[in-house]
Amino acid sequence: MTEKPLEQMGLRELRAIARQQMPAEAWHHFNGAAESKATFYRNPRSFQRYLFRQRVFHDIADPDITTELFGHKLPIPAFVAPVGSFSLIGDQKEREVAEGAGRVGAMVFCSQAAKFNPQNWRDATKSPLVFMAYMNRGREEVSAYAKLSQDLGFAAVGITMDTVRPVKIGDEVPLSTKDGKPRRGHVASPKDIEWMKQQVSLPVVIKGMMSAEDARTAVNAGADAVLVSNHGGRILDFNRAALEALPEVVDAVGAKVPVLLDSGIRSGGDIVKALALGAKAVLVGRPVAWGVSAFGLRGVERVFAVFSEEMKRVLCMTGVPSVGAITKSILIRDQN
Ligand SMILES: Cc1cc2nc3c(=O)[nH]c(=O)nc-3n(C[C@H](O)[C@H](O)[C@H](O)COP(=O)(O)O)c2cc1C
Repeated sequence: MTEKPLEQMGLRELRAIARQQMPAEAWHHFNGAAESKATFYRNPRSFQRYLFRQRVFHDIADPDITTELFGHKLPIPAFVAPVGSFSLIGDQKEREVAEGAGRVGAMVFCSQAAKFNPQNWRDATKSPLVFMAYMNRGREEVSAYAKLSQDLGFAAVGITMDTVRPVKIGDEVPLSTKDGKPRRGHVASPKDIEWMKQQVSLPVVIKGMMSAEDARTAVNAGADAVLVSNHGGRILDFNRAALEALPEVVDAVGAKVPVLLDSGIRSGGDIVKALALGAKAVLVGRPVAWGVSAFGLRGVERVFAVFSEEMKRVLCMTGVPSVGAITKSILIRDQN
């Protein structure tokens, strides 16, 4: 085991320690993805196709990486993705994720599939929260949790729309972490977005939008933000990388609503690339799991500190003063 202080560790070291510390079943579940895992590998690879255009003649020393979403000022445009299975890593891991995110003020998306309910998340953190529903839990439960989230001061609610077929790990559909029952898919309907808009007055985020058509349908049904995501490659093998779908979604709805992205973010540079291609902010799944496995809440805090340091380095080295000033012009498509 490395003797290095946590404050000097990068994501690769956190991942290596997490791999040793996670129960084997949890590692298999978190590192898993659908069938051949082609999309799981494609997600991080898609970021490598973009290079930065270095600029050094400027006086930018401390770029501003704060942003704003749903009326909340946020320290970094990177949030905790909704993950239903942090509890597979350990009993206290949902609490530690909430507390670690709270230390930095990072927004947390809370999955309905988690053992923690909205009240538990609220009690554990001061971070802005977003409740993410699964419609296959039934409208009654979704409505009750969405209304509770609103009463608890959540920033937004949302629906994960992409589990038309359930998550697959290799060739298996795993049982639900929450209740051990078989996972089921559900029909995705814009009517559910209209319905959600009637339950609460909070902004509604729709997750799993991988095409212009779907994004337009979601926004026409009332979505206040869309999240480009292929669920970290866990549903459709040979899906495009989320980053590859981002430009068409931004073209289709970016002038109307914020477009968020997840799937494959592994560095602050990746965050800058997603923002340069039109995302307002990104969500991060597995790296948060590595942090919390390796060092609990301090590990989660470190993941966001690494992203902040790396983002600031990239912005300094490309001559960009703030996230609002990031444009496509800092990227070059790798031709090799
Ligand atoms: C173990 C695990 C559990 C997940 N559970 C959920 C969930 O309950 N709801 C949801 O919308 N997405 C879920 N996701 C998908 C994440 O929200 C996110 O889309 C994905 O992890 C992003 O990819 P990344 O891990 O490469 O950052 C899960 C992902 C993983 C790895």
